[in-house]
Amino acid sequence: MGWSSWNLVGCAVNETLIREIADSLVSSGLAELGYIHVNIDDCWQSARDPSTGLIIADPQTFPSGIPALADYVHSLGLRLGIYSSAGSKTCEGRPGSLGHEEIDARTYAAWGVDYLKYDNCYEEGLSDWRGTAARYAAMGAALAGVDRPITYSICNWGFANPWEFGPAVGAASWRTTSDICDSFTGSWCSVTAILDLSADLFRFAGPTRGFNDLDMLEVGNAGLSGPEARAHFSAWAALKSPLILGNDLRSMSRNVRDLLANAAVVAVNQDPLGVPASRVRRTPKGIDVFAGPLADGDVVLLLLNRAEVAQRSVPVPLADFGADPKTARPMAVVNLWAGYDLDGESSEARAVGTDLVVPHIAGHGVAMYRISPHPNQPFGPVFAPPTGTYPVGEWWYWPVMFVRWYKTRTEEELRSIGVQVVTASVALVIAISSGFRALRWTTPASGKRAPLK
Ligand code: GAL
Repeated sequence: MGWSSWNLVGCAVNETLIREIADSLVSSGLAELGYIHVNIDDCWQSARDPSTGLIIADPQTFPSGIPALADYVHSLGLRLGIYSSAGSKTCEGRPGSLGHEEIDARTYAAWGVDYLKYDNCYEEGLSDWRGTAARYAAMGAALAGVDRPITYSICNWGFANPWEFGPAVGAASWRTTSDICDSFTGSWCSVTAILDLSADLFRFAGPTRGFNDLDMLEVGNAGLSGPEARAHFSAWAALKSPLILGNDLRSMSRNVRDLLANAAVVAVNQDPLGVPASRVRRTPKGIDVFAGPLADGDVVLLLLNRAEVAQRSVPVPLADFGADPKTARPMAVVNLWAGYDLDGESSEARAVGTDLVVPHIAGHGVAMYRISPHPNQPFGPVFAPPTGTYPVGEWWYWPVMFVRWYKTRTEEELRSIGVQVVTASVALVIAISSGFRALRWTTPASGKRAPLK
């Protein structure tokens, strides 16, 4: 949990901003809730020393240097994050770490850095599964070799299935998609698009593996309405994505601050069991139902309304979250957004027959509950069945999934199914004309991969 500079300022990052954000994390009370990382994204580097190979922080924007900034951040009880790319350059063209992994890891450790976000630009042709895993393994090994714990956060946009090789290279988290933007729906970078691409990946995440990173939050940025921001935050929390803020903490409204400070939702995200909620149902009217187990035997239930209009009296079968409808009641149902302004309507859910009935969910909004079983009737499993298929709706879905799939194949594999091609776009045309469904993007979920060398 923490904050990153990218969604707010892009390349225009500097040390004053980082200090001010660190101050705001503390003064807003968010640090106390666990938002303790202050992450400098791309553009802090200016060059590499030609004789020593050492990476140099931009003297214009970071005149005091990174060690001084780390000292300041640490003095507030926070952790400092930094950014590089598993390529020859970063995405904004600054020096990358490919081939300089060890010296960079040593430098970060000496500077007092606590977290590394490691991007995927300028990968020098090493973009298939093996090449990607090798690039990320090199930095993982370098970080493991320094005498300072540095949290390793992989950012290769879900290409080459980082949820498969991430744990083996020491990653604490891996991005599941390309970049988020501050819109709720309707584009490949929207909140719902990213959710769709990530929802089926819950099987790969957990405290002993690492976590699916659905990208930084857009809460507090202009493009999301109040209900949309709440839905976005709730979904990221329930799916156990890192909660990395991307708004201006120095000027956020009271409402935004209070939303981010919802301790009950944060507790779901930080639950020690660490199991992401999975999508157990999608209703015909556009409600996505997610459920997931929590350490104390409770379940978290989240209903996300993809429709623009509010929905009322929404029934959720008790069995959706593992309760046996015949025996499972009574149970406590705690509304995690109680007390927040939900268009003036209550969302206190009640068990009726074999359903839990949710009275009101705003358009593009959410209802979220923590449900406790009867002491003698623990809930059963609440995972979505491993179907290997995916509810598809939006236009962007097939090309994005195809590129993701294609990037995970070796040349031999492509040849063996008759896709003897050199670029993803040519392969896409061939795949569509030969019946794309056969290629099934979920194939990698089988885990049939050569072990990482
Ligand atoms: C992208 C990455 C973004 C941001 C940006 C910086 O590749 O996904 O989150 O870090 O690079 O250039």
